[in-house]
Amino acid sequence: MNCIENLNPNISKSRFPKVLVLGKTGQLAQSIAYLIEFFPTYHFIFWGKEAFNFLNRKDTENILKLKPNFILNTVAYTQVDKAETELETAHYINGFMVGEIAKIAEAIHAKFIHISSDYVYDGQKKLPYFETDETHPLNVYGKTKLEGDLLAMKYNPTTTIIRTSWVYAPFGKNFFLTMKTLLAIKKEINVVDDQFGCPTFAFDLAKCMLQIMVDSKNQNKHFGVFHYQNNGGPISWYQFATKIKDLYQLSCKIKPIPSKDYKTPCTRPEYSYLCTDAIKKSFPNVSIRHWELALQDCKSHINN
Ligand SMILES: NC(=O)c1ccc[n+]([C@@H]2O[C@H](COP(=O)([O-])OP(=O)(O)OC[C@H]3O[C@@H](n4cnc5c(N)ncnc54)[C@H](OP(=O)(O)O)[C@@H]3O)[C@@H](O)[C@H]2O)c1
Repeated sequence: MNCIENLNPNISKSRFPKVLVLGKTGQLAQSIAYLIEFFPTYHFIFWGKEAFNFLNRKDTENILKLKPNFILNTVAYTQVDKAETELETAHYINGFMVGEIAKIAEAIHAKFIHISSDYVYDGQKKLPYFETDETHPLNVYGKTKLEGDLLAMKYNPTTTIIRTSWVYAPFGKNFFLTMKTLLAIKKEINVVDDQFGCPTFAFDLAKCMLQIMVDSKNQNKHFGVFHYQNNGGPISWYQFATKIKDLYQLSCKIKPIPSKDYKTPCTRPEYSYLCTDAIKKSFPNVSIRHWELALQDCKSHINN
């Protein structure tokens, strides 16, 4: 089985809690991989599709064999527009299989930490969303992510679900890297100015997941749905793009446009700023910083 492990071969593996990270190639899992050196008393194992394909239910047996103490799920069908036509695949990966993993975690007494999305909300509230607010996804991706949340809580009520938004990293496919490239090569670009939310630096989200893992020794505490994103918003995609332009001192003109002038196969929420008070209260060690500071940090990681 091809996987990444963090252990020095001289250290006995049996000494430390086993942490299974699903989604080895994704931007969040890679951010976790970057941080594991700060968690030397945990034995991390990263699985990609070759070890656990979310379209192959039989692969769940691999988790039973491994018997991890923690399961951190970063896998998702994340192609929001394509999900409109590939709904069965999105449903299987984001919904059904999350429920199956939750069942296994319950059976082997592993702590399950799962990532969800701001797209479970319809964005009509126009005020920061609380975890207790009504969900009403506008697109297939959001519906399947909500299905995953509900199945995880149904089959394993000790699951911790983190709903986040606008995730970016120095690697992978994300708005920050797309803008950075476009702003460097184009004279003018259009960016939507009527969808509001907040960017989340994947390294900060990874730290949050790992802190929750450390703080979740008592499995009967700290479960349920929590919001996590960088703070200082809400901002629009246009404002985010403008900040990226300033950060790299680029001269490309950015024209703010309404969503109706940027046609996509699916509808996105107009507003998805998430209130993070609950996570701060339940996990005082989880830190949340201003999105602009996180963005500068992302730039330094690229420079280094
Ligand atoms: N990105 C955002 O803006 C955003 C916003 C809100 C919430 N989220 C949530 O944050 C979490 C992490 O997202 P991310 O940005 O890190 O996503 P990502 O970079 O797109 O990574 C997704 C991961 O899922 C894996 N995957 C897809 N299909 C799979 C399958 N059939 N079997 C096994 N693995 C499969 C991918 O593997 P391959 O590379 O091999 O395909 C990849 O490792 C997800 O739960 C996502 O829904 C993301």
